Order: sequence, then structure tokens, then C-alpha cells
Amino acid sequence: MQKLIFFSLFIFLLSCKKETQNQEIFIIPKPVKIEYAQGDFTINKNTTIIYDKNIENLDKVAKYLHAEILKNLNLDLKINISEKKQKRNSILLIPDTTRSLGNESYNLRVTKKNIKITSFAANGSFYGVQTLLQLLNTNEINGKINYENLVPCVKIFDKPRFQWRGMHLDVCRHFYDVDFVKKYIDLLALHKMNTFHWHLTEDQGWRIEIKKYPRLTETGAFRPETMVGKNWDEFDSTPHFGFYTQEEIKEIVQYAADRFITIVPEIEMPGHSLAALTAYPEFGCTGGPYEVAKTWGVFDDVYCAGNDSTFKFLEDILSEIIELFPGKYIHIGGDECPKTRWEKCPKCQKRMKNEGLKNEFELQSYFIQRIEKYLVANNKKLIGWDEILEGGLAPEATVMSWRGKEGGIQSARMGHDVVMSPNSHCYFDHYQADPKNEPLAIGGFTDLSKVYNYEPVPDELDEQESKHILGAQANIWTEYISTPEHLEYMVLPRMCALSEVVWSDKQKDFNDFKTRLKRHVLRLKAKEYNYRNMDF
Ligand code: ACM
Ligand code: ZN
Repeated sequence: MQKLIFFSLFIFLLSCKKETQNQEIFIIPKPVKIEYAQGDFTINKNTTIIYDKNIENLDKVAKYLHAEILKNLNLDLKINISEKKQKRNSILLIPDTTRSLGNESYNLRVTKKNIKITSFAANGSFYGVQTLLQLLNTNEINGKINYENLVPCVKIFDKPRFQWRGMHLDVCRHFYDVDFVKKYIDLLALHKMNTFHWHLTEDQGWRIEIKKYPRLTETGAFRPETMVGKNWDEFDSTPHFGFYTQEEIKEIVQYAADRFITIVPEIEMPGHSLAALTAYPEFGCTGGPYEVAKTWGVFDDVYCAGNDSTFKFLEDILSEIIELFPGKYIHIGGDECPKTRWEKCPKCQKRMKNEGLKNEFELQSYFIQRIEKYLVANNKKLIGWDEILEGGLAPEATVMSWRGKEGGIQSARMGHDVVMSPNSHCYFDHYQADPKNEPLAIGGFTDLSKVYNYEPVPDELDEQESKHILGAQANIWTEYISTPEHLEYMVLPRMCALSEVVWSDKQKDFNDFKTRLKRHVLRLKAKEYNYRNMDF
């Protein structure tokens, strides 16, 4: 009888332990499948990271894990190349020999003996590592976040729902330096996002060094002053300047690649180009002079579509961009291009006549198609905002649907790939709570639950058409966001919600997300991100 009591007590204690463990797992974005088990794996100074050298780039994942454990647990673990499969007290990054996993999928198995992350490719392993790092419990003592070295025994299978899991950043309205861009990329990595859309040129500033046209940054990266708040005729008398050298761009591209993030550079055309025209006025319809914009909005002065030398100029720029960014997509903007100058410009009108173009929308389409030919000839794919549909879509273009979902629906039906980024749900420059209590924003209202409940695949599309929805991304325009702290505040925690939209299963539970988020914000705090505190 006594034995039975002891046995029952033992089982009871085990089940209590299991309960605690369940509550200690708060992963964002939520994995596809979690099976809980008993016990923990302890990471100690003798734990070894072992990776399979036959998977390309797995050494990068091992190094990343090593650096994170050093940062979080102050343990400088050894890294080895795998010889034997089984090993005690190790974290093994191993190949999926069954080839049942996709490139971005992983299996994570934690036992008391070791931790195994199985994947087909290094990307999958990297996401397994992100999950592993989120299994380390955190606690807060006197405002300082500490990580514990116990990893609960668990079996996780995970894969993303969408292939395009993006975040955008406008570094033109306000410039953000290399260190901040890296910190932003780290935030994407933490949330298993894989695409960083870098908005590099604008009316208010050109932010990337182009060797062939040095004035783009000498002149175009500078504006003498900026409008104050929403007062269109009041200026701050403070010069704003900043750009990335090509060396810095390479450094950031590598930093992102080490985190399995592809950068999509955006070089705006034909509109939003005042900074470039200020530096090289000969490529505008009137010939200038122009001035880097000090206010926000949409400007009439755009690239001249009638001038062949404009295309030469843009192709020269794109050739340097192509060299710098190894990803397959180049974003060419295409949004908000007034036709005012083209209507009056003899060169633009001549082009329309010669090419048989009925109106200026078709001239815009001619412009984009000509640029697409150049990109395709250089093994790149063109992506643009949904205005590129107007006047006829370029044959191989991918469309980023921002003015709602309609552009996305229309493009998918035409057989074009689409990234959903509607301003109704994915604009993180919009207010996230009652404007009364929030810092000045551009407008709108997109709170956490709205982002969380966003569904990127429109109901209107059938199964075949839906396959063209590559995924979604959030955009952060920085007219009213001039500091890293404010930017992080706008992004967090909405980006945590977006990460579940693009990664996790379609069936989602906002209350469950909020419970996990409450713990997840400790990770953000530990990494010194600013975030909007929500009342959960
Ligand atoms: C945009 O927000 N103008 C793409
Ligand atoms: Zn013109």
C-alpha cells in the first residue's frame, strides 16, 4: 500500500512538472506542432555544438547559435564537425536524410541527453535554432532579464506557411544608420522573417552610394531642413543627411545573409525621385532646377520617360545595385507617379506617339516594361507597387499590393506573383491605439488584433490563383518616425503578430498569442528593443 502511495505521489509530481513545462513554452511565431515530454536538457560549459559539414552554410548556423548562447548564458561552447551521429551533452545540427522536410522546415528534439535540430537546408536549421533560443526560459530580476540554461524536453515540427515573410524600412524620409539596420535585421531573424525590403531612394533623400553618379549621395542624400509635425509651412532649420557606402551595403547584405534574410533593395522610379533629379536635373522633363524635398507627399517632378538617357542613367544605377544585392528581386517602386509633367513634355509626348501609347498610364507601363527587360536580361525579377498594373503590367512582374487587396487579386488572376501589403493591415506607420495617447503618426488605425487577424490570401481567389500569393509584409514609412526608439515602438509588438500571419497555421487564437506575447516581450526587452506595452 505504502509503495502504491509513493508511486502515485511520484506520478503526481511528474504530472505537475509537465504542467509547468507546458506553461514555460512561449514561442513566437507559433510552431506547427509541439509534443511535450518529461525533463530538461541542461546547457553547461561542456555542451558541444556539432554540425554536419555536408549542408551548405550550416557552419553559419552553428556560429550564430554559439554567439547567442555566449550572449544569453555566458557560456563559450565548443563547435565541432559531426563525426558520430549520437553524442551526449551536445546540440546537433543534422541533415534530414529522409528528405521529407522543405528548405525552411525543421524538426527539433530535446531530450535529457542532447538536442537535435534536423533540417534539409541551413535555413531550416536556423529557424530551429531560433526556436531553441526561445525555449530558454527568461526571468526578470530588478529590471534585468536573465536566461536560464534549462531547455524543456520537447519535440517540435515546424514549417512556414508563406515563402515571403517581409518587413520594409524607409531610410529616406529619415536615415537609419548601419548599426540600427543590423538591429532591425536581428528583429526579423528572431521572428523567422526572411525578407528585408529596403526603401533606399525617395524625394527626401537618396541613401545608397552609386559609384558612377557620385552626386546622387553628395547632393541627393542631403536636405537642408524638414517640415515640423504636420505644419507644411514650418521647418526645423536642421539639415538631414545620410547614406550607405557600398562597403556598408555589402556588410549589411552579408549580415542579413548570415541570418537567412534576403534584402530586396528599392530604387524608386519614375516618381518619388526628386533627390536624384536634384543631383542630375537633366533626367527630369523640365530640366530643373529641383530641390530635395523638405515636406512629405507626392511631387509632380518625376523622371522623363521620353529621354533615352534617363533609361541609361537608371540602368547604370541598377547595374551597381545588381552587383551589390544577390537576391532575385529588385523593387522599382512605381507608385504615386503624377503624369502632370509627361502631359506637357515634348519628349514624353513624342515617345507616346512613336510607341503608339494611348495615354500617360501606358507611358508609365512602357517605362516599367523597359526596366523589366533590363532586369530580366540580368537574371533579376522586377517587383513593384500595385500602380504598375496601370496601363498594362510588365510580363514577368511581381506585384506588391498596398492600396488594399484589389491589385493583388487582379495580378494573381493574371498569373502574376503577389506580395500582400495592404495599407489597411500592414502599414506600421499607422496608429496602433487611440491617437490621443500616441506619438504623432501619419494616420490610419491598425491595432495588434487587426494585424493578428489579417489573412493574406483573399477569399476571392480560387486555389490555383492563391498559389500566386507569395506572402505578406509590413511597411514602415518614416515621415513621422525620426528615431530608432520610435521606430521600434511602431514595429513592436505588431511585427510579432505579423510573424504568425506569415509563418504559423491559418487557424490562429489571439488570446493564446497574447499569453505568449506577454513572455515574448521579455526577450525584446533583453535585446533592448523598445515596444508598445499592451494591456493584455
Ligand atoms: C506606398 O505606400 N506609397 C507604396
Ligand atoms: Zn518628359
